[in-house]
Amino acid sequence: MRVAMIGTGYVGLVSGACFADFGHDVTCVDKDAGKIAALKRGEMPIYEPGLNELVAANTKAGRLKFTTELAPEVAAADAVFIAVGTPSRRGDGHADLTFVYDAAREIAQALDGFTVVITKSTVPVGTGDEVERIIRETRADADCAVVSNPEFLREGAAIRDFKHPDRIVVGTVDARAREVMTELYRPLYLNRAPLMFTDRRTAELIKYAANAFLATKITFINEIADLAEKVGADVQEIARGIGLDNRIGAKFLHAGPGFGGSCFPKDTVALLKTGLDNDTPLRVIEAVVAVNDARKRAMARKVAHALDGGGRGKTIAVLGLTFKPNTDDMRESPSIPLITALQDMGAKVRAYDPAGMEQAKTLLGKVTFCEDAYACAEGASALVICTEWEQFRALDFDRLKSAMERPVLVDLRNIYRPEDAARAGFAYESIGRAKT
Ligand SMILES: NC(=O)c1ccc[n+]([C@@H]2O[C@H](COP(=O)([O-])OP(=O)(O)OC[C@H]3O[C@@H](n4cnc5c(N)ncnc54)[C@H](O)[C@@H]3O)[C@@H](O)[C@H]2O)c1
Repeated sequence: MRVAMIGTGYVGLVSGACFADFGHDVTCVDKDAGKIAALKRGEMPIYEPGLNELVAANTKAGRLKFTTELAPEVAAADAVFIAVGTPSRRGDGHADLTFVYDAAREIAQALDGFTVVITKSTVPVGTGDEVERIIRETRADADCAVVSNPEFLREGAAIRDFKHPDRIVVGTVDARAREVMTELYRPLYLNRAPLMFTDRRTAELIKYAANAFLATKITFINEIADLAEKVGADVQEIARGIGLDNRIGAKFLHAGPGFGGSCFPKDTVALLKTGLDNDTPLRVIEAVVAVNDARKRAMARKVAHALDGGGRGKTIAVLGLTFKPNTDDMRESPSIPLITALQDMGAKVRAYDPAGMEQAKTLLGKVTFCEDAYACAEGASALVICTEWEQFRALDFDRLKSAMERPVLVDLRNIYRPEDAARAGFAYESIGRAKT
C-alpha cells in the first residue's frame, strides 16, 4: 500500500515508520521544513526509544521518505493519514481543529483515484463528518472514504505500543475503506491484535472515553493517596490491594504529582466541551480536571512543607522535567506548575532532565539547568523527584548528601522506600505514605 502521513510529529513519525516496517511504502509529510530536513539527514526531531534505528532501517530499505510537498504524495497514495496536532483552543479549551481542516482542504485538492483519508489525530466526535464535508466542498469529484482510526500509543513506548496494540479501532461503514484498513494493519491482525470496526462517530468517542477513563483512574488514586497520607496508610499497598482485582487492574494506579502530557489534559477538557455542546455535562470528568489542576500546583506546597520554614531563599533541585520518562515532551508537564510555584515562593530552582532540557529551556525562566543529578543537587535544601527516569532510581545517596545543603528528598513518584531514604540520613516525603 502507498501511504501518505500528513504531520510528522510524535504520532505521525512513529506510525509512518511502523507502517513502513510492515512493508508499506510510506512518505511522511510535514509543513515544518526544518523537521523534514533533519529527518532527511537521519536526525530525529523527537526523543523516542528505538525510533532512530527504525527510521534508519526503513529509509535505507527505500520504504520511508520525508517531504514538505503534500500534493504528489496524496495523489499517489492509497491511504492518507491526518496526524497533525489538535491542541487546546485558546480561550475555551476545546480542540483546535484548524490544522486538521487545513490538511483536509490541501488533501482534497490533490486526491487522485480512490483514496482512504484517515483521521489519526484525536478529534471530537463529528470531526470526520466535517472533514468529509470539506473534501466534498473542495472537490465534488473526489472518490474517497473518510475514516476514523484513533491512535493509542504512549510516548516513551510508542513503537512497542504501535506494533503490539491492545486493539485497533477503525470507524467506517464503507466496504472499500474497510478492505484498505485491513490490508494496512494485516501484520498486526495476523499477530492477533483485535481490529475493531465500528462507525466513525463511535470510533472518535472511543478515543476520548479511553483517555478520560485513564485520567480518572490516576486522579482517583491521587485522591486516595492524599487520604492515606492523612490517616497513616500506604497508597502503594492500597494500589496493589485494589489492582490485583481483575475488575480494577493494576495499571494507572500510581499516585503522583497529577497527570500531564500532550493528551490527557487537552482531551479531558475537549470532552467536557463536547458534553456541554450536547447538553450532557460530564460531572465525573469535570471533577477529574479540577482535582488534577489543583494538585499540580499543590506539589510545591508539599516541598515547602518538607522544608518546614517554606521555600523563600532556598535552592531546590528538581530531577525530571518531562511529563513522563523516555520522552522529551514537556507539554503540560507537572514540573512546570511545580517550578513556577516554587519560584513564586521565592525559591531558586536548579533542574536536570535526561532528554527534556532543550524544550524546558523554552518554557521555564530563571532555572539553572544542570548536567546531571549530582550537579543539580549542589547546594540544594531539597531534592524533588518529579519524573521517574530509570537513572533516578538508584541514586548514590551519600554523593547527593555531600552535595546538598540539607538532606531532604521529596519523591513525587514513590520510587524509593521510605526506610531506605531514612537509613541514608534523608528526611523523606513521598505521595500517600508516611513522612520519615
Ligand atoms: N503524542 C501522543 O502521545 C499522542 C498519542 C495518541 C494520539 N495523539 C494525537 O495525535 C495528534 C498528533 O499529536 P502529536 O503529538 O504527534 O503532535 P505534534 O505536534 O508532535 O505533530 C504534529 C505535526 O503536524 C505538522 N502539521 C500541522 N499541520 C500540517 C499540515 N497541514 N501539513 C503537514 N504537516 C502539518 C506539524 O508541523 C507537526 O510536526 C494529536 O491529535 C494528538 O492528540 C498523540
